[in-house]
Amino acid sequence: MDTDRFLRELPALFEDFPASEHPRDRLLAPIADEIENLARENNFALLNLAASCLGPDEAYVEVGVFHGASLISAMLGNEGGRFIGIDSFDFRDASLEKVEQNLERFGVPRPELLVGDVFELIGDGKLNGVSVGTWYYDALHTYEAQLDGLRIAEPFLAPGALLIVDDTDWEQVGRAMDDYLAAQPRARRVLTIEGKDRGHPQWWEGMQVLVWNAR
Ligand SMILES: C[S@@+](CC[C@H](N)C(=O)[O-])C[C@H]1O[C@@H](n2cnc3c(N)ncnc32)[C@H](O)[C@@H]1O
Repeated sequence: MDTDRFLRELPALFEDFPASEHPRDRLLAPIADEIENLARENNFALLNLAASCLGPDEAYVEVGVFHGASLISAMLGNEGGRFIGIDSFDFRDASLEKVEQNLERFGVPRPELLVGDVFELIGDGKLNGVSVGTWYYDALHTYEAQLDGLRIAEPFLAPGALLIVDDTDWEQVGRAMDDYLAAQPRARRVLTIEGKDRGHPQWWEGMQVLVWNAR
């Protein structure tokens, strides 16, 4: 994972990072506009850049695919990479069929899609052998699930891997991030972006980025 490139290039995606309403390049705008989602174009641009910085044998793993908007955003232009989406599809009207339709609509190849509870899937060995360059956690955001949602990724993380979490403005998510970092010296927070509760709705409910094994 080219973490340095990610951190260097992220501000340059925007005219005025993080204040800009949208990235300079509007490539992802149709995805944000046309697929029901729980994010904003800015969040999607950050994911797309992270996916472009993967090492050759590394995977972008997304937990919480919903209708596919964030996963498709990560994939667009990065189709040579390995992408794994995980969802139990038990939220609102989420379904595998909808994700497949949206993938086709935006012309991206089918990623690996694991259907089920992420904790069970990992317990069953479904990610064994995967080297994760980016772990995007946007599933259940209770305090416990958020903590566990980072801890379960650890055995798979490549050096310099990014752990990206959405909705970090929420009190229990922010607290879980702090507690995770306090107990895990191998992870370091490199970015906190505030969201709508703190006056920045262009970043949805806020995001944080951690780096694994930071030098
Ligand atoms: C907030 S939505 C994801 C939004 C999506 N990333 C986007 O930007 O459009 C959360 C998703 O996480 C899934 N989810 C929640 N808990 C899960 C779990 N334990 N394992 C797998 N998926 C889960 C839900 O089914 C739901 O589709």
